[in-house]
Formats: sequence, C-alpha cells, structure tokens
Amino acid sequence: MATRILGIETSCDETAAAVVEDGHLVRSNVVHSQIALHARWRGVVPEVASRSHTERILPIVEQALHDANVTPQDLTAIAVTHRPGMVGCLLVGLAAAKALAWRFHKPLLGVDHVQAHVHTGLLADPDMPLPALALVASGGHTAMWLLTAPGQSERLGTTRDDAAGEALDKGASLLGLPYPGGPSIEKTARTGDRTRFDLPRTLLGPDSLDFSFSGLKTALLYTLRPQGAPPRAAPPQDQELADLAASYQEAVVDVLVAKLRRAAERHPVRSLCIGGGVARNQRLRERLAGDPRLRSLHLVLPDLALCADNGAMIASLATVAWNRGERSPLDLDAIATPQSGGKAKR
Ligand code: KG4
Ligand code: ZN
Repeated sequence: MATRILGIETSCDETAAAVVEDGHLVRSNVVHSQIALHARWRGVVPEVASRSHTERILPIVEQALHDANVTPQDLTAIAVTHRPGMVGCLLVGLAAAKALAWRFHKPLLGVDHVQAHVHTGLLADPDMPLPALALVASGGHTAMWLLTAPGQSERLGTTRDDAAGEALDKGASLLGLPYPGGPSIEKTARTGDRTRFDLPRTLLGPDSLDFSFSGLKTALLYTLRPQGAPPRAAPPQDQELADLAASYQEAVVDVLVAKLRRAAERHPVRSLCIGGGVARNQRLRERLAGDPRLRSLHLVLPDLALCADNGAMIASLATVAWNRGERSPLDLDAIATPQSGGKAKR
C-alpha cells in the first residue's frame, strides 16, 4: 500500500499543505503566500504572519486533500514543520497537524524545515546519486550540506551574517525595488550589464566554506552614495538601475557558485542539488548548469514550486522518517532555532 503523507508548512510567510505518495509522487501542493501582506514592511512581521496562518490553514489543508482526491482517513500520517522558524507561525501548523492527527487517529511526524530544503533534490529526483552536495539558500538560511543518505546530512558551511535571500531583499530595498527582493532584482537584472559595477565577492579566505553577504550590501550602499557625497536626488532609474541589479545579483551568484566548487573539490560528491527561495533564480541555475568545474556532477534543479517553502518537501522528508519507524508525540514542541551542531538527522 502506498505511503500517503500530508505535509503542513507554516514556519514563515507561506501557509502550505501537500499530499505526497511514497516520498516523491506529489499528489497536491497548495501554497498561500503572504507576500502582499508584508510588502509594505519589506519583511515578514511575525504577528501578522501567524494571524494569517490561523485564517488560512484549514482551507489550505482542505484544498490539498481535495486536489489529491483523498480524505483524511486515506492518509498514512500527518507531517508538520516544527523547527526552525517563527514560533507563533510554527505553532499554527503544529496545532492544526496535532488536531488532525488526534481526530483521525493518524501518527504525527515533526520535520525540520532546513532539512526539508536539503531533501528537495531527492524529492525532485529520487534516483539522484549520493552523496550529494546540497545548497540551501533562502531568506533565513544559506548553507551547504553533504547529503549522505535520505534524511542524513552534515553541514559543510553556513552564513556568518546575512542569508543570500536576505542580501537580495536588502539590496532591492536600497535600489527602491519591491519586496521580495530576489524576484525583483532578477527581473530588473535581465536587461542589465552585470560587469558595470564592481562589487565585492567575500570568500573569507582560500579555505572557508562559510558565506558572508553583509559587506556586499554595504558596498552597494556606498556605490549608490559614495562616502561624503550628498544624498541622491532620486533613486537609480532605467539602465543604471538594471546594471546595478545585474551587478549585485552576479556578486551573490558568484559567491554561491565559488563556494559550491570549493565544497565539490573537497568532498567526494556525485550530485549537486539546490533548494530554498534563492534556488528559483534563473541566473544561478544557468551558472550551475554551465560551470565546467561542476560538470562531472549530476545536477538537480527542482521545479520552482519545490524550492520556495511548500508542504511537499515536508511530506517527502517525513516519508523517510516514517520508513525508519519514527513517530512524534502529540506534545511535540515548536522550536525557533535550527538543529545545533554540524550533523543533522531529519
Ligand atoms: O525559502 P523561502 O521562500 O523562505 C525562507 O525560508 O526564507 O525564501 C525566500 C527568499 C527571499 O529572500 C526571496 O527574495 C528569495 O528567497 N527569492 C529569490 C527568488 N525568489 C525568491 N531570490 C532570487 N531569485 C528569485 N527568483
Ligand atoms: Zn524555507
């Protein structure tokens, strides 16, 4: 009989639910994004986000069941993100998942959100050869992981300050582009010259597998307004804006690619996969697909819908846990922080 898991995700600003069969058949994947709600603050406001989750969670779950053509009774288990994320947001998903698990006598499985992004390569391509190098780049996280077996990974490097998505969001704000910054910088950069502005690529020395993006943001600030210069009369426009966006995006992508090359040279990986909102970026995808030093690796670029926060990645990773015999108690807690230490199991 098929393993059919409902995955619920509410850790940040997406209310999401999905039904996944046998770990990789996505029967439904419903996402309600709160972007419009947070746009005027240029970032996610936790209280506003959790209120919106409360309003949306049950209709989203109902839609996911409807789209998959299943009833709660047909489910094998109910999975939910329980860490890391904004506690008020996580609690909404957890309360819904626990109520469903209790009402329909289904086992509950708590899932780590970052590990679900790491796992996305295996959801998109269950035959992906392991070990794989997995890049997770989002608004809250930027890290490289060595994925040795389904549900088992070791962190190779992480950001020391801003996440890549956060750098794009803050850069877009400096450029007067709309929130979220990643997609608006990508769109504006399409007609830009990515070599026009010389922005730094912080590599943290020759050996580090960590990331740092805060200097790039500062460099953009001083490019827009050199020290000692008076404020600009108007934000950059037209070609200058496109060139700034293209140069900024290229600096972020260059660092991500450089670090992946480094990690691939040091670890005996067979595949490379990406996840998280920044993994939707077409320039990053193009660069990874065309990189001569990464060519020997099996490259997995998941569908855009699987990169941003979604319930399918939660259900898929939960299937690995289910098959290992794991179950979570009904008093499962919401935890704001990522798993500590370099190694992670689910
Ligand atoms: O994974 P995600 O949806 O939520 C978090 O867990 O953070 O990632 C959101 C981040 C935002 O910083 C957003 O600007 C970025 O992903 N992003 C992109 C693109 N789409 C979303 N960055 C670059 N290019 C994109 N197309
Ligand atoms: Zn995420």
